[in-house]
Amino acid sequence: MTILQVTNLTCEYRTNPLGIDLNQPRLSWRIESDRRGTLQHSYKIQVSLTEGFENPLWDTGVIESDQSLHIEYDGPSLVSRTRYYYRIKVWDNFGRESNWCDISWWETALLDSSEWKASWITPNPEEIHPQAEPTFMLRKQFELKKQIESARIYATGVGLYELYLNGNKVGDELLAPGWTSYHKRIQYQTYDVTADLNINNNVIGVMLADGWYKGNLAWENKRHIYGEQRAVMLQLHVRYDDGTEDVITSDPTWKTSTGPILYSEIYHGETYDARLEQVGWSEENFDDKAWKGVVICQPPVTRIVAQENNPVRVTETIRPISSFVTPEGDRVIDFGQNMVGRIRFTVNAPEGTEIVLKHAEVLDKNGNIYFGNLRTAKQTVKYIAKGTGTEIYAPYFTFQGFRYAKVEGYPGQENGLPLENFVGEVIHSDMELTGEFETSNSMVNQLQQNIVWGQRGNFVDVPTDCPQRDERLGWTGDAQVFIRTALFNYHGGQFFTKWVRDLKADQLPDGGVPFVIPQVVDGASSAAWGDAAVICPWNVYLNYGDERLLAEQYDSMKAWVEYIRVQGENEYLWNTGFHFGDWLGLDGKEDSYYGATPNDLVATAFYAYSTRLLRDSAAVLSKAEDVQAYGELLENIIQEFKNEFVTKNGRLAVSTQTAHVVALMFDLVEGKVRERIAHDLNELVLDHDYHLTTGFVGTPYLCFVLSITGYHETAVKLLLQKTYPSWLYSVTKGATTIWEHWDGIKPDGSFWSDDMNSYNHYAYGAIGDWMYRVLAGLDMDEAKPAYKRIRIQPKFGGKELTFIRASHYSMYGKITSSWNLSNEEVTAELEIPANTTAQILLPNAKLEDVKESNKALVDMDSIIDIYQTEDGVSLEIGSGSYCFVYPNEKGIGLVYTPDTKVIDILADEKTAKVLVSYIPKIGSNTSILASLKKLKLGELVDQPLTNLSFEQMEEVIEKLNQFERETVALKQ
Ligand code: BGC
Repeated sequence: MTILQVTNLTCEYRTNPLGIDLNQPRLSWRIESDRRGTLQHSYKIQVSLTEGFENPLWDTGVIESDQSLHIEYDGPSLVSRTRYYYRIKVWDNFGRESNWCDISWWETALLDSSEWKASWITPNPEEIHPQAEPTFMLRKQFELKKQIESARIYATGVGLYELYLNGNKVGDELLAPGWTSYHKRIQYQTYDVTADLNINNNVIGVMLADGWYKGNLAWENKRHIYGEQRAVMLQLHVRYDDGTEDVITSDPTWKTSTGPILYSEIYHGETYDARLEQVGWSEENFDDKAWKGVVICQPPVTRIVAQENNPVRVTETIRPISSFVTPEGDRVIDFGQNMVGRIRFTVNAPEGTEIVLKHAEVLDKNGNIYFGNLRTAKQTVKYIAKGTGTEIYAPYFTFQGFRYAKVEGYPGQENGLPLENFVGEVIHSDMELTGEFETSNSMVNQLQQNIVWGQRGNFVDVPTDCPQRDERLGWTGDAQVFIRTALFNYHGGQFFTKWVRDLKADQLPDGGVPFVIPQVVDGASSAAWGDAAVICPWNVYLNYGDERLLAEQYDSMKAWVEYIRVQGENEYLWNTGFHFGDWLGLDGKEDSYYGATPNDLVATAFYAYSTRLLRDSAAVLSKAEDVQAYGELLENIIQEFKNEFVTKNGRLAVSTQTAHVVALMFDLVEGKVRERIAHDLNELVLDHDYHLTTGFVGTPYLCFVLSITGYHETAVKLLLQKTYPSWLYSVTKGATTIWEHWDGIKPDGSFWSDDMNSYNHYAYGAIGDWMYRVLAGLDMDEAKPAYKRIRIQPKFGGKELTFIRASHYSMYGKITSSWNLSNEEVTAELEIPANTTAQILLPNAKLEDVKESNKALVDMDSIIDIYQTEDGVSLEIGSGSYCFVYPNEKGIGLVYTPDTKVIDILADEKTAKVLVSYIPKIGSNTSILASLKKLKLGELVDQPLTNLSFEQMEEVIEKLNQFERETVALKQ
């Protein structure tokens, strides 16, 4: 029996979602097949109000199409608060028909805002001061008299809220309702509470804290950015077995009080006095006589939308690895991982004992805990025990970025801390993990882990810059540089949909884009930051084929490009205004945050890039006029870029690495000029002995452009570089996340300034994109987004990277690109999901030598096309698992020749010795070394500086190759 199955049904990226407020939600699925080369030939969808599908509401009939992503529901109008079951079957290109898949569903929430009957309520300001620090508790007791069939709560709040029903927390979401541009949009959450209700008395409770809405945000001690009053709005809909309904809403009959949470702030932590707990406050029979009244308040926002993003949750718990006393005498607990979340602890302590946890990321060079880089963020959690036995606590409305915590007041801590009583709870937007990347190099593996941890810690409802200091803001530049890597690692469809909608909501009337989204910091429209308006929706489209989002954001994307166009006097050059430039570039002035690449070069390059993506988006959306108009604009910008920044003879007028990187990456130069600029970029990297000098703008693309312009070996050397500045430098320093600064911790153990020194900043993690797409070669044909047509073309990394395996769970299913190289053989294990095809390059392979699952290629099942190219064997294949084996003619070792560069010989101690034994001056005279290091071995012959004869050069080469053969043999 053969298998053809429809699986992984999703509605708007979600499995069985409760709260969809769209009239035409989109359905997607995957196909599992045991036959290679499976494509969907046709599909049939049924949507029904009943699980039995007796009388489907919508039946597409058999639709001949290979589309399996984002099919819009197109049946009768949807009704609010209704569950719609759906099922799908497909036919494939072999004429097979699948069974109906397992049934999935989506449930509508409130499709029309007029269905909100509840009022926004807040404690009566005459009884509880609206600015009182303690978290408010609100409660409402009510009676239900009949058998309940189903019940839902729709709830939102300003500030952060947690919902309770009959004594238990409802749902596992944290930090609800999430952070949006509150003035324009706020999310509500939907909870299925059918099982939590009783016939007779019930109590809903709400805890309400300041959060992003009115707590301290940004570094200027700003408060109440969105409003001065916390408030909540919810309605409970109960449907009885007899078909009738009841609605309980937030209204003036609710009661309120303060409670044990005396203080709670995103940056500063929480203070919890357990003696003030009110046992049973969200249960019946609680005596709330002393509680105060609530009043109805003005709706704080204009638009309420159903939750768009994945909820923030605890996704993992981490046990501490040790506790110790620092030289300064602090008792510190170490979780072994720079993480974001909170500490939950258990304690038995006398009443009134104060336990304080102060969180930090690193220890200083003396081993003391370091709080300097937190700036004004206190990251302090205080718990006051009630003294009634075992007490367990974790803060509610705050999160910390930390690996270490200083502990004070824990009973008996002078004798050591009981580690089993502490656990780190990792908190972030709970996205599906979609990426795996592993190599034979443990440091590169650690780098990948650091990238993933950096993403987890900074994807807390919005893409933030850092999770520890007084920022944690949605910096647009950081988000755009990292998005492509991010979407490899995690499914970010929902996450970025929400965020780009906020970007659009906060975009300025002239098209300018604030520095941070949601906007809480003044200032707007820096190049490479504002471009997030274009780059982010485009990347969501590329990864998930989300045309609807592209269409929705199109005006915002266009407004950004048009904003740039009217800046300054020259329509095609952006040479005015404030820019962050190549932020944190190392080639800037001493102690400056700004790299040396001129702002107008960076700004014009990004202007071109955004215009190109806008043109391509217009093409996707069939906007022919715009394709034409923005195509012309792009040509003009490129021309102006050349006029301004490329010399007559074809060199770049600016000699920074970043300038070269953007010129190449954004295709601003072509032909011979491109070749020269690529060559010069390579030289610039060699000038720094295989080190980068780039900042936020150049770093993400540096390796990428080197690899695609013929300098892949240099890119690999940059990746594997261990000395400062480099990706692996921080790994040598024990980093478990990506740092903001290349020298966050300097080689001597001292720190870069307190001012701007996050140890959990994902921007430089953007190298992940190159690791997946170039090293492992797992990429897509952008003309067929979402990996409908996969491209697998690895570029091998030499003897340090003989094994690379990358997987990505695309919307179609799992893609794997796995390569194992020995000196004799290359083995590639590939997985291609059904309903896609893949174009594969087997690098350096010869057609006649390749075996697939032990068969010659010509006998292989499901080849669409196959041909020999200069680079190897190129194949077009269908879905399935494949194992290719072929001789590794190039081996894994280096081959030294007269073309080998001096610098590459000097990189290794052993080979350096050989050369120095022939040319001693190279070892002792640094200026001679500097003048010779970029030369080829052959160019050293008969030079006055070297006195190297041709025969000696040959001897050197022979010895070097001998060493290399020995090293490779050892590795086998
Ligand atoms: C943030 C960045 C951000 C930058 C803009 C910093 O404080 O942490 O990552 O992009 O400011 O200059």
